[in-house]
Amino acid sequence: MADKELSFNDDEFIVSKTDLTGRITYGNDLFISISGYSEKELLASPHNILRHPEMPKVIFKLLWERVQNGKEIFAYVKNRTKDDNFYWVFAHVTPSYNNTGQIIGYHSVRRKPTIEALNTIKSLYHTLLNGERTGGITTSLSILENHLSQLGKSYDQFILAL
Ligand SMILES: Cc1cc2nc3c(=O)[nH]c(=O)nc-3n(C[C@H](O)[C@H](O)[C@H](O)COP(=O)(O)O)c2cc1C
Repeated sequence: MADKELSFNDDEFIVSKTDLTGRITYGNDLFISISGYSEKELLASPHNILRHPEMPKVIFKLLWERVQNGKEIFAYVKNRTKDDNFYWVFAHVTPSYNNTGQIIGYHSVRRKPTIEALNTIKSLYHTLLNGERTGGITTSLSILENHLSQLGKSYDQFILAL
């Protein structure tokens, strides 16, 4: 049955790596099993194979801006599985460097989000998505920026305090 929420344990991590273009180069066992795809289907596929339509574009824009600039980012992400089920994660995405300091790919480690954090995120993402539907990513970006300035927090301060 589709549209069912899948979960995983507090002591488990979902790990994947991508190349510079976001194509999957590695996934741990949990990444593969929860996705519903086979390892063969996942490897070399773009990471948006798991994209859920309810994820605001602005979050991915932020993610790519950060990691392409050599910085880490924490983000809450709703993913869609092959069978049209979904699961929420709290992701830590980082660039990977070679020994001459060049970025050679990206790495994401995800843990299970808390219910309290998800309540805040779901309502924020809902607002961002509505903004995006009417005014595109420019609108959702200004909604996000306004939200953060009202809280007097940076994105990182906000996310890490949830
Ligand atoms: C290391 C890494 C992990 C990613 N993990 C996910 C993920 O789990 N789910 C997801 O929807 N996008 C993930 N992305 C972002 C995707 O590359 C993509 O930007 C996103 O799915 C939005 O797709 P779109 O740009 O085609 O709209 C990840 C990117 C990187 C670099």
